[in-house]
Amino acid sequence: MKIIKTIDEMRELRKSTRKSGKRLGLVPTMGALHKGHLSLVHAARDKTDVVAVSIFVNPTQFGPNEDFAKYPRNLENDCALLELDHVDVVFVPSVEDMYPPDAVTWVTVEGMSDRLCGKSRPGHFRGVTTIVSKLFHITEPDVAFFGQKDAAQVAIIRRMVRDLNMPVEIEVGPIVRESDGLALSSRNAYLNSEERRAALVLQRSLQQAEKLFDKGERESGKLIAAGKEEFAKERSARLDYFEIADPDSLEPITTISNRALMAVAGFIGNTRLIDNVIVGPRR
Ligand code: PAJ
Repeated sequence: MKIIKTIDEMRELRKSTRKSGKRLGLVPTMGALHKGHLSLVHAARDKTDVVAVSIFVNPTQFGPNEDFAKYPRNLENDCALLELDHVDVVFVPSVEDMYPPDAVTWVTVEGMSDRLCGKSRPGHFRGVTTIVSKLFHITEPDVAFFGQKDAAQVAIIRRMVRDLNMPVEIEVGPIVRESDGLALSSRNAYLNSEERRAALVLQRSLQQAEKLFDKGERESGKLIAAGKEEFAKERSARLDYFEIADPDSLEPITTISNRALMAVAGFIGNTRLIDNVIVGPRR
């Protein structure tokens, strides 16, 4: 497994893999790897010949009062996990290399970037689409792998790729959960044992709304109310949003007639967590 720290070296490696006709799969991450990330690595293994994982805690997708400084970083452990999973390349660029001090160019998916997490985290998705574009330009993957855990991120990246004709295929993997249902997240490491228990409210609130959907309710207002009511039962949690939106456009849905994304975000103590489920006919 090669650990590559500079953009130039990464480009060189890409050139040589292209010469040998190999398809490159990229799994972009911010590290602190868990089984959710590794499920994407496995998908990349299955679908492509050379698997690259990028590890970069991207400063531009964190707000000024968010957890950029304390975001968990454990490169040694991450590399050990990736080595076990037969990853070919780990790309670990520095902030200085990725963002020279006079960098002023952004990629913004307008409108969509202000929805769901984008509403409560202004500038977050602009940071995501800018760094993902840069990673695509540097590594030129044939296929890039993302998790459904970040449903809005998936929709926004798909739109960016389409709108800017980026020559990359986007593959999306299902949400990987702990045995009790909590969606895996690098931020779960922040939770103490009481918060870890309270964090299950995210999934419970989605399940409550989904149960009502399964009984035939199609009015988003009623489904959202059921989700919020369940969320409110957990006194130590604070709701950020509970929304129902079109999974492709992220536009809010009033009455569900097709696939719908139910998405929840909330604070457990100081830790912000998200979860979601898609209801309606399968694609
Ligand atoms: P990060 O949070 O490290 O996640 C990297 C990838 O792993 C994302 O595509 C995310 O959706 C996926 N992932 C996280 N938890 C998952 C889970 N429980 N099940 C399945 N997939 C999961 O998302 C980012 O980093 C960044 O925004 C990034 C795209 C790397 C840009 O900086």
